[in-house]
Amino acid sequence: MVSRYQPRTKTIMHFSANACLLPVCQLHLAAVTTAEGLGSCRTRIHAVQERIAKAHGSQCGFCTPGMVMSMYALLRTRPQPTLDDIIEALGGNLCRCTGYRPIIDGFRTFCRASDCCQANSMEGCSANGQSANDKNGAPELFCKDDFRPLDPTQELIFPPELILIAESQRPITQTFQGEQTTWVSPVSLEELVQLKGRYPEAPLVLGNTNVGPSMKFKGSRHPVIICPTRVSELYDITHTPQGVWVGAGCTLSAVKALLEKLVLELPLDQVETFSALVQQLGHLGGWQIRNVASLGGNIVSAYPNSDLNPVLCAGRCVLRIISQGGEREIPMNENFFTGFGKTLLNPEDVVLSVFIPVSEKGEFVRAFRQAPRKENALATVTAGMRVRFRPGTCMVEDLSIFYGGVGPCTVATTKTCQHIIGRPWNEETLNDAYTALLQEISLPPSAPGGKVEFRRALTLSFLFKFNLHVLQKLREMGIILEDVQGEMVSAIQGLPEQLQPCVQEFQEVPQDQPSLDPVGRPLMHRSAINQATGEAVYCDDMAKVQGELFMVIVTSTRARANIIKIDDSEALKLPGVVDVITTRDIPGKKFLSFPGMEEEVLAVSEVTCVGQMVCAVVADTKEHAKQGAAVVKVDYEDIPGPVFTIEEAIEKHSFFEPQRMIERGNVTEAFEKTDQVFEGEIHLGGQEHFYMETQSMIVVPSGEEKELKVYLSSQHPTYAQESIAETLGIPSNRVSCHVKRVGGAFGGKVTKTAMMASITAVAAWKTGRAVRCVLERGDDMLITGARHPVLGKYKVGFMNDGKIIAADLQYYSNAGHTADESILVIEKILLHMDNVYNIPNLRGWGMACKTNLPSNTAFRGFGVPQTLLVVENMVNDVAIKLGRTAEEIREKNMYKGQSLTHYKMEFDPQNLHRCWDECLEKATYHSRRAAITKFNEGSRYKKKGLAIIPIKYGIAFTEGFLNQAAALVHIYKDGSVLLSHGGTEMGQGLHTKMQQVASRELRIPASLIHISETSTNTVPNTCPSAASFGTDANGMAVKEACQKLRRRLEPIIKENPKGTWSSWIMKAFLQKISLSATGFYRGHDLYMNWEKQEGQPYAYFVYGVCCSEVEVDCLTGDYRTLRTDIVVDMGKSINPSIDIGQIEGAFTQGLGLFTMEELKFSPSGVLHTRGPSQYKIPALCDMPLQLNVHLLAGSGNAHAIYSSKGIGEPVLFLGSSVFFAIKDAVVASRQEAGLSGPFRLDSPATPDRTCLACATRFAQMVPASDPESSQPWAIHV
Ligand SMILES: Cc1cc2nc3c(=O)[nH]c(=O)nc-3n(C[C@H](O)[C@H](O)[C@H](O)COP(=O)(O)OP(=O)(O)OC[C@H]3O[C@@H](n4cnc5c(N)ncnc54)[C@H](O)[C@@H]3O)c2cc1C
Ligand code: FES
Repeated sequence: MVSRYQPRTKTIMHFSANACLLPVCQLHLAAVTTAEGLGSCRTRIHAVQERIAKAHGSQCGFCTPGMVMSMYALLRTRPQPTLDDIIEALGGNLCRCTGYRPIIDGFRTFCRASDCCQANSMEGCSANGQSANDKNGAPELFCKDDFRPLDPTQELIFPPELILIAESQRPITQTFQGEQTTWVSPVSLEELVQLKGRYPEAPLVLGNTNVGPSMKFKGSRHPVIICPTRVSELYDITHTPQGVWVGAGCTLSAVKALLEKLVLELPLDQVETFSALVQQLGHLGGWQIRNVASLGGNIVSAYPNSDLNPVLCAGRCVLRIISQGGEREIPMNENFFTGFGKTLLNPEDVVLSVFIPVSEKGEFVRAFRQAPRKENALATVTAGMRVRFRPGTCMVEDLSIFYGGVGPCTVATTKTCQHIIGRPWNEETLNDAYTALLQEISLPPSAPGGKVEFRRALTLSFLFKFNLHVLQKLREMGIILEDVQGEMVSAIQGLPEQLQPCVQEFQEVPQDQPSLDPVGRPLMHRSAINQATGEAVYCDDMAKVQGELFMVIVTSTRARANIIKIDDSEALKLPGVVDVITTRDIPGKKFLSFPGMEEEVLAVSEVTCVGQMVCAVVADTKEHAKQGAAVVKVDYEDIPGPVFTIEEAIEKHSFFEPQRMIERGNVTEAFEKTDQVFEGEIHLGGQEHFYMETQSMIVVPSGEEKELKVYLSSQHPTYAQESIAETLGIPSNRVSCHVKRVGGAFGGKVTKTAMMASITAVAAWKTGRAVRCVLERGDDMLITGARHPVLGKYKVGFMNDGKIIAADLQYYSNAGHTADESILVIEKILLHMDNVYNIPNLRGWGMACKTNLPSNTAFRGFGVPQTLLVVENMVNDVAIKLGRTAEEIREKNMYKGQSLTHYKMEFDPQNLHRCWDECLEKATYHSRRAAITKFNEGSRYKKKGLAIIPIKYGIAFTEGFLNQAAALVHIYKDGSVLLSHGGTEMGQGLHTKMQQVASRELRIPASLIHISETSTNTVPNTCPSAASFGTDANGMAVKEACQKLRRRLEPIIKENPKGTWSSWIMKAFLQKISLSATGFYRGHDLYMNWEKQEGQPYAYFVYGVCCSEVEVDCLTGDYRTLRTDIVVDMGKSINPSIDIGQIEGAFTQGLGLFTMEELKFSPSGVLHTRGPSQYKIPALCDMPLQLNVHLLAGSGNAHAIYSSKGIGEPVLFLGSSVFFAIKDAVVASRQEAGLSGPFRLDSPATPDRTCLACATRFAQMVPASDPESSQPWAIHV
């Protein structure tokens, strides 16, 4: 949070900002408050920190300080915010672990009761693990009565000396001289104009939200930067009867507040443009961006898809410009934007202010936007439209329509407007206008950004929406007599936005359970408070070791090529660069092996994808290493015929071996006996892990006996240890790997981390110095691979009553250039292809395609989300084909009674049916289905959809040897316990659960038990924390170690039963009883025999069912999840708050996978999506308005600790309920267009796919692009 004293108003302003975009030079006279400054575990924590932690809103914790500071900044301006304020304040913060619900629940306790239903906060007590109870006696996850009150009088004070300086000192020009840039901050307008005259190419940095990213990501360099934030004229606001002049330096938040005020104060017919701008500003960027980004900056940046520029142009705004030549005014019209990032302005011009005119009577202005995500995402298409009518008539006197996102800059549709001006506003005129618009805005198939047909359809849809708005206005004014048809009104109604109270249902521990025993209670994540105060230590938080170097990796820019030469001479000349590491420097093995994979650590002679690691530069600082990496020259000789897509791989038969097949029954014969046969296919895109903490590691050579200490963010430290040892050619006992915590992993920190740690170790080995490597987000996304995209083809035979008799499924995954774990993923795909369905004749084929893309790897669910989507889509198609509901077909085909899977594993699906019935009931499925049918009949352009989806998910590693774990427990003489086990803490709450296990077994409070880290020198030969098996495996090992210790203590306790824990421990020490024990768990001997096509690959199944309802805007493809109900059978939960957190987080990640997250590759295999601005993960705005989670009561599990079940992965697929609900809504829209029968909707169901599938008249007007005519911007891999 930044705080500034404003001498003009004598007030202090507080606002949240993105640290990475805020230049330090701009902070002169500002006070900066960080999460660490707000409160500390050592002194006193702040109410905001306490509430997010105790409400279970912190999992891996990497996003938590950001959440805390956004909320704190809000409270500094509004101590009693409304729920809407909180949603706005957090709109720019991303979390990859939680589903946002617990964060909101913690923070909504700051609202006044009247501003928030408070339904998700409660009375009782919970932070110590006691669940609270709601008014009906149901247990709840936390209790707000525990929370310390927010006392605004106790807040940090703004440093008085800064006020004194601001009041007393005459401002002087500030100049900061850096290595490459001089920063100048003038104090007067005159000085600013002179500076701009002298350095016309120097950018004016206000919010730095355009200049900053282009310096950081595109490498732009500026010898001089001018910062005019102290020039008061840039902030002047002048009101005139014709409108308002707004200083170009005003932040977008300030502009929004000003216009909101004017909208309330001025007559309605004057505020049309103001309202349209307010609407756009509400969705532009996040709060942190709007708090710093300036109005002038937005205009001059001339983004092709700016939200404001089309409205400012349509609204006839004018710019006041100043330069050494004097002042002048320039209208923002069709001539103002001249190209990508270009305007009519001269380089020496400064925009002083922007005039926004009031609207006239009979003039209407509207704004539109459609973005890949509702908030904090640059729009795909934006529009500003204004019409003025001859007074008292519907004759169009003037019209301007501007679009963003359909060309290199904001574009005017002059020809279309000419079709309308002078004509009455009626259907005939508008029909002509749609045709004219289609001709006027035509994008080539290769247009940057892609989605060409969708963007063209949006231009038409927006004009149609504008038409309806105008008709409504004309009707209100009595100028036309006909009402807009009821079913059409839906086109201009917004999607619902109001968050509803949510339910988290779980079972209380038995009444006779000792109060000390924390198992089954909703204990807070053991590090949550540290995470909220910013004290939690992640890898890159570790202090620099003396002489430490930083390493930056150089990656291939070619998809397939021979390396001719690596020329590092320029890099080595740069200041600070110490060395360049190539494969020749590797003293041991130059490739790593893992079950199924063999991969070069650094490219040897050939590269096989863009992003492959070629060499690495080590330097004294990160900046110097980056500069060095930028000038390493690699000469390539292209090898023709790279393969990128699954289709190309199939054509060229480019597969990794083995290919897998499994069959139950006789599929070929069975097809002959079915009433109907249908063939279909679905493609599912990949998914970036987007863990908040990127790959991070530090390798510290001890300087003695080849020892290395490695600190890293990994879910498999043992594999990193082994890889480093092999790469260096030393024994594993010289390498110790330490993982304190991981800021999110999701499967992406196993193989790739080991690979990078090995390179870092080579660098440390060669230089003899500590080396740190922390990937930038863009490099992380480029190098480390993602979830496998999958193409699923199916042929299904079924009877007219809906019974599926035979199915033949082919799965092709895009594995990328190396096998990594792709064969294991393909196997899991085939093992789960029955989901919950007893299809008597079932055959599956699995092929991992070898392509020239970065190597894809493990990702939460390990292929299961992909396979289940294909199966469920097939079942859905059967329902559509038969004209029946999907739930009927699902229910009809489910396993019933004691059953055998297609690989002959026995199981009882009873709890699946219980989940199904309970979900139908809790979600009031049938009555909502009827209500949706009714809604859809009365609404042409908004359709609702509903879907209920079941899962059966196998837990544990099929590779039996991985189902083992160990633990080490030390009891110290003071009674405190240090617990180590083989699992890593990556937000999933494993350490908290292990603490609970140890607490129960040792019968001591959890507070006496500490877990410091996971390290290979305390617990060796560990397995990865994966497969949802961490608690099952490590829990049993911890249990065994604790039981050993307890047994040793029993005689002492018996002797003195009234003694205290510490007295028993001291006694044991004096009696020379060992107070340290190891525990080992030799888990299930699971296997799969692919020759015999049978096995016992899982220890047990988790069942779950999820019902989601959505509302879709068929004109734009935008949607909102109205409600989601999840019922999960996870046995007896060890910690309901952690398990419900995992369920909500996994569901949200699944929602991202199936409805929004898109990796885009260029036709030459270059990843376009390399950061949060191009790749959208779910944000707060994507949370279902109501998210209810129920843990199935009365369940157990004989196969895992304390009858619990693993939960990290299974529920991710339930996010597909939103995909199928969207598909259900699309069916309703297609019916209006006279279309019936199955249709293809690939995943993710992004707005473009949804909109085009809805087949409204506007979507149908756009001709399909001819793929042969030119190369598309992005390919479908
Ligand atoms: C995460 C993120 C999300 C965003 N989302 C959106 C969005 O949804 N919709 C949208 O429209 N925009 C969006 N933006 C863009 C953002 O609105 C613009 O970057 C911002 O308005 C630019 O203002 P600034 O003050 O930060 O400009 P700076 O980066 O400080 O400057 C940008 C350019 O403008 C010039 N300039 C600035 N002020 C003047 C002036 N007074 N006279 C002459 N030249 C000037 C500078 O020389 C420089 O070249 C987003 C940006 C980010 C980083
Ligand atoms: S807790 Fe939010 S990213 Fe992990």
